[in-house]
Amino acid sequence: MFIKNRGKVVVHVNYVHAQWSSRWAFVLAATGSAVGLGNIWKFPYMVGQGGGGAFVLVYLVCIVLIGIPIMMSEVLLGRRARLSPVNTMRVLAQQEGASPGWQFVGWLGMATGFLILSFYGVVAGWTLAYVFHSASGAFAMENPQHIKALFGAFVTDPQRVLVWHTLFMAMTTLIVARGVQAGLEKAVKVMMPVLFILLLALVFYSMGSGGFDEGWEFLFKTDFDKLTPAVILGAMGQAFFSLSLGMGAIMIYGSYLPQRSSIGGSTFLIVIADTVVALLAGLAVFPIVFANGLEPAAGPPLIFETLPIAFGQMPGGTFWGTLFFVLLVFAAWTSAISLIEPAVAWLTETRGVRRVLAAVLTGGFAWLLGMLTIMSFSDWAFSFRFLGVEKTHGFFDIFELLTTNITLPLGGILIALFAGWTIRRSHSQEELKLGSLAGFEIWLFLTRFVSPVMVGMLLLYLLFGHYLNA
Ligand code: TRP
Repeated sequence: MFIKNRGKVVVHVNYVHAQWSSRWAFVLAATGSAVGLGNIWKFPYMVGQGGGGAFVLVYLVCIVLIGIPIMMSEVLLGRRARLSPVNTMRVLAQQEGASPGWQFVGWLGMATGFLILSFYGVVAGWTLAYVFHSASGAFAMENPQHIKALFGAFVTDPQRVLVWHTLFMAMTTLIVARGVQAGLEKAVKVMMPVLFILLLALVFYSMGSGGFDEGWEFLFKTDFDKLTPAVILGAMGQAFFSLSLGMGAIMIYGSYLPQRSSIGGSTFLIVIADTVVALLAGLAVFPIVFANGLEPAAGPPLIFETLPIAFGQMPGGTFWGTLFFVLLVFAAWTSAISLIEPAVAWLTETRGVRRVLAAVLTGGFAWLLGMLTIMSFSDWAFSFRFLGVEKTHGFFDIFELLTTNITLPLGGILIALFAGWTIRRSHSQEELKLGSLAGFEIWLFLTRFVSPVMVGMLLLYLLFGHYLNA
């Protein structure tokens, strides 16, 4: 198939993508992408470092005002073009008489996906290792110092981490290689429901841990003194990261969505599920943290250093701990696959690369890039300051900050501007098919004005904020 514009071939598509078997498969897959380490590993430590309730409040505001409209925009664009993000942007721009330069959004997204997956795979590797540590009873009755030392010794040993990182990336590549229905869809259909049940069980345990009131208060009591620009920027970045927005992951999943499915309703379900899981993770983690007198601001090691201490002390802790890390591996797995799917779709549709090979190439590249993160926790660690916060894990911190705080929000602004202004109103209205006109007007207003302005202000602060502080 050729996609032409004024007689010139713009895209040579020799691969027609498959579709989800139903709208539910899409909702599950997108929820699988959204719910991941971002909710269970990152959200609690960001809340812990951001001072609790204030961070949570800004996060929730960003989810509603920025997350929902941009997610709808990504799905809308993907489904309209049914191509990889690069070609979706290119073809839709041509259709609307705009510059083919919009495809930059797709390229930026692919690069961002590789960067995120490179460190995501390493953290998922830690998680995988902790399934086995837990199951072997390594945490039972250990004292806190020893458990902390265990994590320290593990992450600073590149060879051991490499083994688990490699295993996780192989798992990810395998699912992607099997394709939309046989791979992605089958995997999420099993994993997502299991994950919900396991998380509920953990919160239930946490309610009896003795720290529940304190944990609840920490999460939901807003202390406005703690609302620094850095916290606000972090909360917005976290909203993008957690909802998988700004790099085309949701766009490519949207491109496999059957034509008649409702975009608004699906988005609503995905966003609710993602938010509920993040809050449940907070409710599972913080009571345990407080009940055991642990440090909420421990950063990336938070769940690996604190939870095993709690698991080590609780009755049946070997079982609960193992279950928790299994859950986390599942969550990470269904997220990781969406990070390379845009690149895989692009390789298959424009380069005629077979899906299996495309999965191996992209997974392999992210695996290789992951070496920089692995080494950031040992020999190649270096530190720098970012918005007044000391960062000590070199490349890992750079990749994490660059994607979460810069390229995802930038991609998000461009997607919002494109869907809101470049796509003709009649076209977006026809594609979204929201039941009510008011609903459409609200989406359009949020997409055209609110999200670009909010995100834009934060990015400007990031660029020029130090002049204000100086
Ligand atoms: N949202 C996932 C999480 O919370 C991570 C993720 C998957 C992601 N795909 C993404 C983040 C695309 C940003 C963009 O763990």
